[in-house]
Amino acid sequence: MPKVTYRQHDGSEETLEVRAGTSLMLGALTGGVEGIEAECGGSCMCATCHVYVDEAWLDKLPKVQVLEDEMLDDTASERKPNSRLSCQIEMSDALDGIVVELPESQI
Ligand code: FES
Repeated sequence: MPKVTYRQHDGSEETLEVRAGTSLMLGALTGGVEGIEAECGGSCMCATCHVYVDEAWLDKLPKVQVLEDEMLDDTASERKPNSRLSCQIEMSDALDGIVVELPESQI
């Protein structure tokens, strides 16, 4: 199964196996990773699943869609060029090894 490394704001990391087809948000929640609220349950309506994607992986992700782009303007922590909503990133074998950093705050 492909792996995702979730890096906390303090630098600590957890690497989890996330089944292909599962969002990075759901992978974090089911794996007990702290720092993702996901208040809307993955409907791209809350921006509390914000992550910073390691630069090396940015080009491998699908482009930000209009709704995600709008929601990224409402994140609690600063929006950066590598900001994404983890509910909109579907795990795949091509993303095996991806690293995402959790922001300081989601709400
Ligand atoms: S879970 Fe709400 S926008 Fe991702």
